Amino acid sequence: MRMLVTGGAGFIGSNFILYWMKNYPNDQIVNFDKLTYAGNLENLKEVENNPNYKFIKGDIVKTEEVENAMEDVDVVVHFAAESHVDRSIKNPSDFILTNVLGTQVLLESALRRNVKRFHHISTDEVFGSIDLEDKDKFSERTQYDPRSPYAASKASSDHLVRAYFVTYGLPITISNCSNNFGSFQFPEKMIPLAITNILEGRKVPVYGDGLYVRDWLYVEDHCRAIEAVLQKGKVGETYCVGGLTDDINNLDVVRKILRLLGKDEGFIEFVKDRPGHDRKYAIDWTKIKNELGWEPLHTFDEWLEKTVDWYKTHQDWWKKLKTPEFQKYYDEQYGDLD
Ligand code: NAD
Ligand code: DAU
Repeated sequence: MRMLVTGGAGFIGSNFILYWMKNYPNDQIVNFDKLTYAGNLENLKEVENNPNYKFIKGDIVKTEEVENAMEDVDVVVHFAAESHVDRSIKNPSDFILTNVLGTQVLLESALRRNVKRFHHISTDEVFGSIDLEDKDKFSERTQYDPRSPYAASKASSDHLVRAYFVTYGLPITISNCSNNFGSFQFPEKMIPLAITNILEGRKVPVYGDGLYVRDWLYVEDHCRAIEAVLQKGKVGETYCVGGLTDDINNLDVVRKILRLLGKDEGFIEFVKDRPGHDRKYAIDWTKIKNELGWEPLHTFDEWLEKTVDWYKTHQDWWKKLKTPEFQKYYDEQYGDLD
């Protein structure tokens, strides 16, 4: 089987390629990635010389590049996106271009090339926000209510993917998952930013009152969920994928990281809130459990500890990413926080 993975040099995409090549060594993987600031081929060192792995540097917005990469492809797993909410608030246009137009270019090419499955990776952010006291969870039946430019761009892409199924019969599946954590996550996102800042002796910026809640999913559980959808998922269907946390807020996540690194709460710095900040995400993953037999296996506390250890032992990996360009972004985002 020949699989085209878009965005395979990013956090989840690279974890997915490593997972897939370990478990399906005879499959051929083509990793198509533009290598934006978030793409990093070092994540894939383990497989770079494997004859069944091929990297193509390319942009999903460019029809010709996509068309060439799609040749003889059986399955597309589409991760490529601009993925950081804060950057989407500062500069929405890149998000519309890559996440909306780029997805449409891929769909068009997949249709022309008769791919057998187009799996689209989406997010729970398309569903909006849950009140803290509300016990409801997002499910496949929840109405879309995206509230950031990032979420709106992902919602648009989901609609396009479904439209290509209904209108043209393209065999698609979609998964909407919650916040991933684990190794190879770019240190702009909250968990790796907190860990790496503490390791550098810097403060951890916590937005607003810190009582925002995310549904944390260990990245390998996400990879297993995609595997289940590719193998057993029904064409045209959407599956929600979530983790094992029970309403843990950002402040408590940062406190856990501080404890794991033997530091006190003096490292916490409350900063200006994110505009339109979604209060809570929570996923009901009953459908994928009942229909495909998937459930998350990795508990938050144990795998947060392993993730902290990974960042401790891979300082070369993340220190290179905290470039002057990253510092510029950081200064604009966090003001004079040191
Ligand atoms: P990431 O930002 O770490 O990686 C994105 C990758 O896409 C990078 O390698 C980048 O170079 C590549 N890319 C960006 N624009 C491109 C373009 N125009 N053409 C080709 N490649 C391009 O993202 P991630 O956290 O790994 O997220 C992957 C996918 O999963 C995204 O679609 C995101 O919306 C979705 N998602 C992420 C999370 C999460 O918690 N990280 C949760 C739910 C859904
Ligand atoms: O829910 C899935 C989404 O999870 C994905 O679709 C996105 O691609 C991914 O980036 C992530 O979005 P979030 O905005 O939830 O993740 P982030 O790590 O940026 O923030 C997590 C929480 O921590 C959120 O409530 C904002 C808060 N936060 C974040 C940063 C970067 C802080 O308090 N301080 C920070 O410096």
